[in-house]
Amino acid sequence: MHIVGARPNFMKAAPVIEAINNFPQLNQSLVHTGQHYDANMSQIFFDQLGMPRPDYNLEVGSGSHARQTADIMVHFEEVILANPPALVLVYGDVNSTIAAALVATKAGIRVGHVEAGLRSWDRTMPEEINRVLTDQISDYFFTPSGDADENLQREGVDAKKIFRVGNVMIDTLIKLLSKAREPEIAGRQDRFILVTLHRPSNVDDPETLGRLLATLNRISKEIQVIFPIHPRTRRRLEQFNLSDVGANVLLTDPFGYLEFLWLQQHASVVVTDSGGIQEETTYLQIPCLTMRENTERPITAEIGTNILVGTDTARLGKEIENVLHGCAKKGAVPELWDGKAGQRIAEILARL
Ligand code: UD1
Repeated sequence: MHIVGARPNFMKAAPVIEAINNFPQLNQSLVHTGQHYDANMSQIFFDQLGMPRPDYNLEVGSGSHARQTADIMVHFEEVILANPPALVLVYGDVNSTIAAALVATKAGIRVGHVEAGLRSWDRTMPEEINRVLTDQISDYFFTPSGDADENLQREGVDAKKIFRVGNVMIDTLIKLLSKAREPEIAGRQDRFILVTLHRPSNVDDPETLGRLLATLNRISKEIQVIFPIHPRTRRRLEQFNLSDVGANVLLTDPFGYLEFLWLQQHASVVVTDSGGIQEETTYLQIPCLTMRENTERPITAEIGTNILVGTDTARLGKEIENVLHGCAKKGAVPELWDGKAGQRIAEILARL
């Protein structure tokens, strides 16, 4: 039984579901918690990624961390008590991940964590709490990179339960790269910077968000900025009266997977605080500037195109100048980011 809930879960689960379909001895079902529910945060990904309709939709919606996590737990418990699976597979680090893992393990059901072992070492991030706790109570650990294996072993996880399978999100990217689709954006220019920001640390404080926007406004005099806005960020921009941006900053609604992939592929540089985008740009070898002090995906900075800029907007300006003047960081693609991670997981599950 796969559990998905928030946007970044969908592209991680899709290749695993597809691969398991080739193993007739494995039956599978899909639960959508409803953590994300807007059509452009959820349904469009099901359509574009060719995912099956969820067997269960818990429809929990938004709320405080406690309320959202608790709602998922209560409703998910009803599902697994009525139809207990042999194994629950959870993905990534969102609230749906820890909520489902906690319920399953207490119901005596084994838990597999896909994208296990990543650590930012920053416990002010809700996702870090979700990662650490999910890994404490999981039975099988599917990891994308060697650093994740090391983190888990340091925390006492039995090496026999750790399976380095590679990066499931990159499976989806490789599969759909040839279908990437140019989005219609009025006034788009050939050269542009692609920006996404949604972390509480960047968008929940008016001063920080204001500084970031001022920097983007300044840069937009030199190169166009395309900024698809996450619903959390949109709310903050309105609340802090910051929606008035320069003419060359295009604020748009969130895009579907295929359109966003096209934008990443064609951007001069991507500025983000997302985890997944650090990985996708590394695969695509597009320069990525990450507006965070740390990353749970250090391999993207060690060997990929990612540079951790922190919250220093002066540094952001300088790094963008570097890229625009031909001095972008060159990167390599990590081992096992080869489009076959889902297949490896399915083979392991069939064996187990
Ligand atoms: C969640 C994940 C984060 C992930 C991000 C990707 C947690 C703790 N955080 O953050 O790790 O990077 O998803 O998008 O699980 N909203 C809508 N429509 C939606 C969904 C959300 O309007 O379909 C708005 C609501 O106002 C909500 C807010 O966005 O309160 C935040 O949503 P939530 O799921 O709580 O967290 P994200 O910031 O999306």
